[in-house]
Amino acid sequence: MCGIMGYIGNKEAYPIVIEGLKKLEYRGYDSAGVAIMNGSLSLYKKEGKVKNLEQYVHSQKNNGNIALGHTRWATHGVPNDSNAHPHTSQSGRLVMVHNGIIENYNTLKSFLVTKGYTFSSDTDSEVLIQYIEWYQKSYFLTIDEAVRRALGDVQGSYAIVVLDTEKPQNVIVAKRDNPLVIGIRENEFYIASDVSPIGQYTQNVIYLEDNQIGILSDNGSCKIFNLEGKECEKQITTILFEEDDYTKDGYDSYMLKEIFQQPLSLKASMRNRIKDNKINIKALKQYKRVFKNANRIIIIGCGTSWHAGLIGEHLLESFAHIPTEVEYASEFRYRDPIIKENDLVIAISQSGETADTLAALKLANAKGAFTYSLVNTEGSTIARISDAVSYLNAGIEIGVASTKAFTSQVTLLTMIALEIGQMKGIINKNDYKSKIENLLAVPNQVKEILKTNSYIKNIAEKMSNTTNALFLGRGINFPSALEGALKLKEISYIHAEGYPAAEMKHGPIALIDENMPVIVLANNNKAWQKLISNVQEIKSRKGKVILLKSNSQEMEAGLADYVINLPVIDDFLSPIISSIPLQLFSYHSAKIRECNVDQPRNLAKSVTVE
Ligand code: M6R
Repeated sequence: MCGIMGYIGNKEAYPIVIEGLKKLEYRGYDSAGVAIMNGSLSLYKKEGKVKNLEQYVHSQKNNGNIALGHTRWATHGVPNDSNAHPHTSQSGRLVMVHNGIIENYNTLKSFLVTKGYTFSSDTDSEVLIQYIEWYQKSYFLTIDEAVRRALGDVQGSYAIVVLDTEKPQNVIVAKRDNPLVIGIRENEFYIASDVSPIGQYTQNVIYLEDNQIGILSDNGSCKIFNLEGKECEKQITTILFEEDDYTKDGYDSYMLKEIFQQPLSLKASMRNRIKDNKINIKALKQYKRVFKNANRIIIIGCGTSWHAGLIGEHLLESFAHIPTEVEYASEFRYRDPIIKENDLVIAISQSGETADTLAALKLANAKGAFTYSLVNTEGSTIARISDAVSYLNAGIEIGVASTKAFTSQVTLLTMIALEIGQMKGIINKNDYKSKIENLLAVPNQVKEILKTNSYIKNIAEKMSNTTNALFLGRGINFPSALEGALKLKEISYIHAEGYPAAEMKHGPIALIDENMPVIVLANNNKAWQKLISNVQEIKSRKGKVILLKSNSQEMEAGLADYVINLPVIDDFLSPIISSIPLQLFSYHSAKIRECNVDQPRNLAKSVTVE
């Protein structure tokens, strides 16, 4: 994780870097730091959020045309000022920001200790900059050469920006398995972990490739080399950048804003993809043969994206009759998965940068699968290395808890499954048409559900002292139960489990007593009767039941403690519909418990380390 930002050019660098760090804070918010070069180096580092750093730097010397900044998600060493980046070398001559993990840092550190080096932090990153200095000093190397030689000995992942304060006219950048983008303007370079802090200045960017090193100079020269020292051709990409809305729009958090944006984000995901009751997804059209002839689909993802994949499995198997497997990307990457001809691998990721999903995708590519990614962030690494990509178009998601990206992932998977089913002649014309009509109605139904916000807040207030919660669902709503539990635990720190409802009697029922809230997702008709029996079983053991059901489902009065009535829908849409009250429930539970809903402890929006 971690976000890095740098600038070299003719402008004041600090304001550019600090504003950039705010946009990259989703990548980590344990500490932040900035190094500014103006004859001499000014280095400021602070535990906590970027705004702490900004307040600290405000009254200090901060002018200069070169700056490196960092916002950290701690891997090696606790979050404190000394572990914050930028890190300097022993002599103070070199300064560096790093995103990634130096896996063999212990070996390198032991070696450096024998050479008399001492360390002022517990980080792997400090070891790397010291090691670069050791190369520079021992072999009288230029800084780019020292970086190149040092990286040749490094195991692990990195995106780095390095400055030699004795030769500040050049900034050195390098990457392996972590993203680094260089924005180019006349005599200026903007360096960042993604394009979000760059796009407002320039549309011309270079996405640095793995094992490349760049030398960026204040005279506008940019040279890229590989680790063998051979110069590489520069691939300049023009980005279509629309300034994202980074305001909270009057909401108290990004998460709440993003929950309430869903009527619009869902429409945006369908826009230009549904016309005259027909689905038109570019990738499916372009690679029609691949999708039509797929014998098997393997979906890879992590966290919420993995849950969306589980829902996709139901949709693809039932509409397109393609056997589908859903794998945690982190597991897939370390197996030796069997990929056969006509297997299609779908990677799902909001950020497009999740390290495990990226590694799993690379493995699928290497094994010859056709890879298709469903990604929210344009230009992200996962999008760029897939054979085909469809963007979620949900708009920037800043809250760590994924909300609108999840419903857009499920919407896109629904369209994909329906379209492949149609291509293969599995779904008849009327069914296809009516399912599309039902899908198009979802944004307005979501709008209606959002009106239950204060009722859901009420329920959350009643449950706020709980330490545990159980989420039960069946069929296509079982993954929604997993997602509801994940949302609750990640932002309110209440321990929660999602279970297939029928599994309750095989163990979890032992947990049920008057202190255990059980959230039952029953708005899919196919499972209704069975779920009502489960509710009876929970009530017989004094559990508290919050029941999500559709308006048309009838039940004995007073059976559940709280009932959340939802619009009547076709079962295949139940996960999108049921996720909205669950998002609101988690949000309110977290707020009542005074948790930071946008930046929960220990987490980051984009998990770019293993
Ligand atoms: O960016 P990705 O979709 O690849 O991220 C995957 C997970 O890290 C992410 O969904 C995580 O579980 C969220 N915090 C859940 O709300």
